Amino acid sequence: MLKDKKILVGITGGIAAYKAADLVSRLCKQGAIVYVAMTKGATEFIAPLTLRTLSGNPVYIEMFEEPKVWNVEHISLAENVDLAVVAPATANILAKMAAGIADDFLSTVLLATKAPIFVAPAMNHNMYHNPATQENLQVLKERSVEIIGPGTGFQACGTPGDGRMSEPQEIIEALERYFAQEKPLQGKRALVTAGGTQEPLDPVRYLGNRSSGKMGFAVAQALVEAGAETILVTAPTTLPTPKGVKRIDVTTAMEMYEEVMAHQSNMDVIVKAAAVADYRPKVFAEQKMKKDGSELQIQLVPNPDILAELGKIKKKQILVGFAAETENLIKHAEGKMQRKNVDMLVANDVTKPGAGFGSPTNIVTFLFPDGHKIDLPQMSKLDVGRKLVEKIVEILEKRSE
Ligand code: PMT
Repeated sequence: MLKDKKILVGITGGIAAYKAADLVSRLCKQGAIVYVAMTKGATEFIAPLTLRTLSGNPVYIEMFEEPKVWNVEHISLAENVDLAVVAPATANILAKMAAGIADDFLSTVLLATKAPIFVAPAMNHNMYHNPATQENLQVLKERSVEIIGPGTGFQACGTPGDGRMSEPQEIIEALERYFAQEKPLQGKRALVTAGGTQEPLDPVRYLGNRSSGKMGFAVAQALVEAGAETILVTAPTTLPTPKGVKRIDVTTAMEMYEEVMAHQSNMDVIVKAAAVADYRPKVFAEQKMKKDGSELQIQLVPNPDILAELGKIKKKQILVGFAAETENLIKHAEGKMQRKNVDMLVANDVTKPGAGFGSPTNIVTFLFPDGHKIDLPQMSKLDVGRKLVEKIVEILEKRSE
């Protein structure tokens, strides 16, 4: 599983650094090509020469030392590895990763890489349970960093608790699971829309909606996990782009329409999770509109219904729509499924706590044109995305039978 995989092992300054030698040795025995980057702290616990000897490659520590090969090393390493694993990962490196700090070789490579990142935390159990560390781990999880462990047991500081680095064999197994993961959408191209479009009234105001983009971003992440080459056309949001996704930023429904139409013919799958404004102001006021105390009427003109347009022209594509409802969920969603000619519709009642706009979770029902429905319990939006991908894979498989 690990043969010929290029793996960056990041080692930071904790007593568990000695176990990193075993990890590097095991990875190399399995045929992986291992590059090691150490923090200065790590070199206090284990000699770089040990890692160099075990990996057969130079060890990276200093940002500004003479290059080992002529290249911008942190960037070329970041671009060339298949996976990065930080073991042990101290509270300090986790905080730096969460904050996007790049102040030494390892943290810079981790910020620059698009490869999946695994971390094996190792620290004193009080440091591990400190809310700062827990929040940093949560941030990293949301950015798709895989957390391995930590284990529980007797710690080097003399007290028992959790915070022990997972054993090298457990770390290897986590990496093997990643490389073994089925990629059922490998070779497929997908486009997802996310967020709420903004329809400008004047230079300072717009008509908008409450969509945060979380649902669409989660779907894009699930599609990439399943191996699809994924484009995410998103309305304004501050969310970070999931790893491996090509992001296109738009503001208005018309811009979203243009981008979706420009790419649609190359897509195998299109998922429309965006909350698109049905109307836009007829006139855009060049200067900020002034109040004069009287009533204000704004004339609106319809935007194109992007999903309905896609439904008219689709051939072999799988088209998935969402329906955000506040009443009669299934009845309204069924109407949309038919009108927009989609292969699957994800209905959510946006008035339910834990569902809809802004929430990290959603409660959805999948509807299909043959009449069958699947009710899902409340789950994270990423899990909804993964369930959605499972159904897309099933539809594709049925079509190829
Ligand atoms: O972004 P979050 O905060 O995570 O919230 C998630 C969500 C509530 C936005 C999401 O789960 C959701 O329901 N998205 C669809 C919102 C919506 O606009 O629903 P609708 O029922 O108005 O539209 C039905 C479908 O037609 C949607 O797929 C929509 O993208 C599409 N549409 C609508 C209007 C339009 N002019 N063009 C479209 O393509």
